[in-house]
Amino acid sequence: MKGKLPVKHSKLFEEVDVAPQLVLRNRIAMAPMTTWASNDDGTVSDEEEAYYRRRAKDVGLVITGCTHVQENGIGFTGEFAAHDDRFIPSLQRLAAAAQSGGARAFLQIFHAGVKTQPALVADVVGASAVAGEAGPFAPALTPRALREEEILDVIQAFADAARRAIVAGFDGVELHGAHGFLIQNFFSPRTNRRNDRWGGSLENRMRFPLAVVAAVKSAIEEHADRPFALGYRISVDEGSADGLRIADSLQLIDRLIDGGVSYVHASLGSALDQKPVDDTSGRSIVRILHDYVGARVPLIVAGQIRTADAAERVIDQGISLVAVGQGLVMNPDWVAHAIAGNGNDIKLSVSFPDVNRLTIPQKLWTTIEDTPGWFNVVRTQAERYPVELAHHR
Ligand SMILES: Cc1cc2nc3c(=O)[nH]c(=O)nc-3n(C[C@H](O)[C@H](O)[C@H](O)COP(=O)(O)O)c2cc1C
Repeated sequence: MKGKLPVKHSKLFEEVDVAPQLVLRNRIAMAPMTTWASNDDGTVSDEEEAYYRRRAKDVGLVITGCTHVQENGIGFTGEFAAHDDRFIPSLQRLAAAAQSGGARAFLQIFHAGVKTQPALVADVVGASAVAGEAGPFAPALTPRALREEEILDVIQAFADAARRAIVAGFDGVELHGAHGFLIQNFFSPRTNRRNDRWGGSLENRMRFPLAVVAAVKSAIEEHADRPFALGYRISVDEGSADGLRIADSLQLIDRLIDGGVSYVHASLGSALDQKPVDDTSGRSIVRILHDYVGARVPLIVAGQIRTADAAERVIDQGISLVAVGQGLVMNPDWVAHAIAGNGNDIKLSVSFPDVNRLTIPQKLWTTIEDTPGWFNVVRTQAERYPVELAHHR
């Protein structure tokens, strides 16, 4: 990309370090996105591989959709697996597809905990027997509290999955500490009501996330013979009255950095506008995080970054990388359009006739269609017609 940098948005296309000795060619990451499209045996499907390959061409970094580190950690139907060595060849395919255009690739690893489907997991586990919140993809399930030795097993499972990511050729792993999955379930005062060393005080609620970081860091030190990143994705607060607040998250971030994470990735509803739930200062979360973290580690932020202008406004606030989600689903050539500097080429909606051209897996498309209010789906005349007919009958 050197030599033909556009004047507009040039900051987006600067090289950036995401971890020691891991240079990215630009500041645009493909946000981690589940496709619901894996094979029934938990391996990455041809459709999924093509989807990544198509979007990985020009971004600096691909963060994969989440993959479960234990069999009962699966969160979504059609989610590819990483809980056993037999999945290494499948992970290898994914790493190769994500790196095929010159991007770096990080595997996002997680345990869904309470945010799963009863059809997928019979034994739903969490920090405590506190119901999760119903969302578009998960009902409100009440988990069984994990026992001490089971907690240690989950921590080890994260380390084992990181080893598989190393063997498979990834450049890093991202711990999914956001969206109410097991890591956040332990950190949140709403869902963690334990009174042993894994719950209660802030220090105890931090113990599980920090133990996962320490175990994964050891696995990297033991198995990686090349620079390998350890990232952490965080939801900084929760909407409920007794939920997590940003003050606790800032404490956790200090400890994550001390524990050796390479970067922190904030998952936001809106990167440009979102304020903390208990906001008093009027500062956006991005501003607070930037001022707090300073130059200690790179920050990645995601949340409705659809256009190159929006991306640059985030980078202008001192953020290292933007993660683009829906924008890249709807525009596999998002980066090329941003380089060309023609804002109108970036589409803000998607419709059924585009699905094949955009290499969107069938299951991802049906999930998008079945989830009102998520993507901006434009119905064609032909699609609207039968609905209108039915309405008039
Ligand atoms: C199809 C889809 C799948 C997603 N799957 C994941 C996931 O596996 N892990 C994760 O951390 N976030 C996931 N997200 C959230 C995105 O990473 C991102 O934070 C969110 O979509 C906001 O960014 P956007 O407005 O640019 O899409 C998903 C989002 C989409 C649209």
